[in-house]
Amino acid sequence: MWDFTSPRKVIFGEDALEFLSEKTFKHAFIVTDPVMRKLHLSLVEEQLKAAETKITIFDEILGEPSLQVVEKGAKQLAQAHPDVIIALGGGSVMDSAKGMWPMWASPEDGMDAIEGLNPFAELKLREKTGCILINIPTTSGTGSDVTWGTVLTDKSSDTERKASFGNRELVADITILDPILTKTLPPHLIAGTGLDALSHAVGGYLSTWANDFSDALLLHAFKLLWRNIPVAYQQAKAGEVEYEVREKLHNAATMSGWGFGNSQIILGHALGHTIGAAWKIPHSQCIGASCLYSLMYNRNAVSERIADLARGVGLEDGSNEELTENLIAAFKKLLIELELPVSLQDMGVSKEEYDSNIEAVIDFSLNDSGTLSNPRRVDYEDYVKIYNSFFNGEEIDF
Ligand SMILES: NC(=O)c1ccc[n+]([C@@H]2O[C@H](COP(=O)([O-])OP(=O)(O)OC[C@H]3O[C@@H](n4cnc5c(N)ncnc54)[C@H](O)[C@@H]3O)[C@@H](O)[C@H]2O)c1
Ligand SMILES: [Fe+2]
Repeated sequence: MWDFTSPRKVIFGEDALEFLSEKTFKHAFIVTDPVMRKLHLSLVEEQLKAAETKITIFDEILGEPSLQVVEKGAKQLAQAHPDVIIALGGGSVMDSAKGMWPMWASPEDGMDAIEGLNPFAELKLREKTGCILINIPTTSGTGSDVTWGTVLTDKSSDTERKASFGNRELVADITILDPILTKTLPPHLIAGTGLDALSHAVGGYLSTWANDFSDALLLHAFKLLWRNIPVAYQQAKAGEVEYEVREKLHNAATMSGWGFGNSQIILGHALGHTIGAAWKIPHSQCIGASCLYSLMYNRNAVSERIADLARGVGLEDGSNEELTENLIAAFKKLLIELELPVSLQDMGVSKEEYDSNIEAVIDFSLNDSGTLSNPRRVDYEDYVKIYNSFFNGEEIDF
């Protein structure tokens, strides 16, 4: 038996934020970050005020959020006791809100309310808190607005550990995709967060848990992202990205999240999560290259599936193996065109930092859920070779 979990509603397109003024919420608890507070919070407040909704704001989320900030937010959430949580921001904000909610619902469990999350637990979040979750993503990347996972970093030890926790009750009730919010994204974030979404499409499509429903979303998302990310990047560098391009990217990032959230991610994210935490590299800056190494490592195990992706974006036809090689080459070219790093050295990891952390890094990668659902089994020895190639920017040929 399998199930496919979705939000109740996806509100999208021009003026999507107006949905908030048509609802009668009593009290909204807005989770956001300092940048969003300055740039876009007023747009959301305006809609809520029109519906006479009381507003409380928690704006302390920083990039790659910690369990510790989530704990602080959960306390304020419990005090406010809203009937709607609104997460306004990128993946960091949405993941934080998804962490705060179970902590509020089960204060007696402390950190275990998050660390003990598993896909099968019955949390009764909505019954216990009388509240729902609305996500409003402001990056076109993580898909966290529709996934049931939250990625949080435990900053309590020396080698920071980033881990995913999940439960299907964390899937938002409603996600609002308003392209007005992504108008302010700078080129490097368009590139990096776009590559995150692209990596979700690749990972979700190649995962051992892929299914007919996730395939449908992921193939189309891959196509939209592949076509529109470079256009958006060049337009952003020249001034402003066209509305249609932003809309396609925003929709595609959510479709990617919807798909991979119901299949799984693979080696690329096991690498990305681990190096992000160990060497403090934002997810959006390391995930593109991580995906490239994952494609190289998996090329022989799933060339038929990689070839589907290549055909979908119109790469020259040939055998599955030829198409796989073409896609890998084009993926590397794309990273370079978007001025994204292609090796750990490019990301600023020194040989000393690499040598002193690599054992813990491999250990964390082995325990990441992306290792479990990778189509080719990955063991310790393989990780040693993969990381060595990744550090030096070399081909994976084993
Ligand atoms: N839960 C999931 O399914 C999932 C999936 C992938 C990634 N993640 C996690 O999400 C986090 C990364 O999220 P992210 O890549 O969206 O970045 P982010 O949320 O960390 O934001 C990055 C920066 O961009 C700014 N920003 C956001 N929207 C903007 C806008 N419209 N205009 C200008 N600036 C804007 C933010 O203020 C921040 O400074 C990581 O912790 C990652 O592990 C979660
Ligand atoms: Fe991701």
